[in-house]
Amino acid sequence: DPALIAEGEKVFKKCAACHKVGDKARNGTGPLLNNIVGHPAGQIDGFKYSKPLLTMADSGLVWDEASLDAFLANPKGFMKGTRMSFAGLKKQDERAAVIAYLSTFND
Ligand code: HEM
Repeated sequence: DPALIAEGEKVFKKCAACHKVGDKARNGTGPLLNNIVGHPAGQIDGFKYSKPLLTMADSGLVWDEASLDAFLANPKGFMKGTRMSFAGLKKQDERAAVIAYLSTFND
């Protein structure tokens, strides 16, 4: 849905201080977010994840739409001790939009 993706591009401004997407994306404060939707957590080369994230990744966490929605709604509630210092996206439509936008950076 192009309108949802366009909305997600706007929402991603809240993420962009820490996360990059696209051809020239590099890790920064947070890992780059190409190929994240539908993929296992904690797999971006060269990024030093927190212990809680690596523990959940070892337990099989995959960033599907449901887990991304829960994490982005309340990062520290979903993942106690995460280094992602972000209050979260309270609005479900903003979460759906940013997930749709991120999906466009899958191979
Ligand atoms: C981790 C998305 C905002 C810093 C992650 C992960 C996702 C994500 C999906 C897990 C990546 C993986 O498993 O490889 C988002 C989105 C945001 C957002 C969509 C905006 C809505 C932010 C902001 C910051 C940040 C604003 C910095 C202030 C981090 C850090 C991690 C992380 C440091 C690693 C967490 C850890 O190791 O515990 N983010 N993020 N993120 N993000 Fe964000």
